[in-house]
Amino acid sequence: MNISPLISARRVVALTGAGISKESGIPTFRDSDGLWKKYRPEELASPEAFRKNPQMVWEWYAWRIQLVRNAHPSRGHIVLAEMERHYPEFHVITQNVDGLHQRAGSRNVVELHGRIDRARCTGCGRVYEPAPIEDIPPVCSECNALLRPDVVWFGEPLPPDAWEMAVELASQADAMLVIGTSALVYPAAHLPVLAKSRGAFLVEINPSYTPISSLADITLRTGAGEGLDLIWKEVKEHVEG
Ligand code: APR
Repeated sequence: MNISPLISARRVVALTGAGISKESGIPTFRDSDGLWKKYRPEELASPEAFRKNPQMVWEWYAWRIQLVRNAHPSRGHIVLAEMERHYPEFHVITQNVDGLHQRAGSRNVVELHGRIDRARCTGCGRVYEPAPIEDIPPVCSECNALLRPDVVWFGEPLPPDAWEMAVELASQADAMLVIGTSALVYPAAHLPVLAKSRGAFLVEINPSYTPISSLADITLRTGAGEGLDLIWKEVKEHVEG
């Protein structure tokens, strides 16, 4: 496995998806045992669903919030936090809303889809962190309007600052690690294409084939932790000489 571009890289970006958190016990969306196999996203993860049945949407998110609160960072999350301390510039761009990268020690994290353990008021926009899920559906203590999970739902735009940062990082990366994403949901799935078009060395870590596999310089058909350990071991061996 020739990872020399990863050894000489100065600006490295990791794009992560639900697969890295599956190793923390959090279900993915599109695997055979994923959330979208049991639930219909349009009934739970859209503004229309929330308007129609805020109680049901909040019950589902409260369940996911408890999952996240009880989860621990996986080996993959931990290796990415170690990489941040090694490379001159290292960022994680994540589609995940679980905050596990930060809990593993990553500080440079761009969250494209928000955070599930944060809520915001549909009336005055006030943000609540952690989301007050004692009573479902929670209401704003300021204006009494309903709170909603502070995540990006289907049909909603990404947070502009996060997206702009992600595009800039992908455009300037010497190397991009794409870990645990089906690369099906845009605009996030555009980032590896953008990075590659600007000359980045592209590594994919995913047990399954995805639409960006053919673009990758290296594809590791492994789980996130195993694949990142493989790469990290080689980089460290080279550095230590
Ligand atoms: N390690 C790495 N990858 C894994 C592992 C693992 N142990 N197990 C499964 N995977 C891979 C699957 O092969 C799949 O390609 O993780 C990917 C998970 O894909 P999705 O469930 O589609 O998750 P993701 O790509 O993050 O979804 C993107 O879709 O529903 C929206 O907002 C949601 O952020 C999410 C977005």
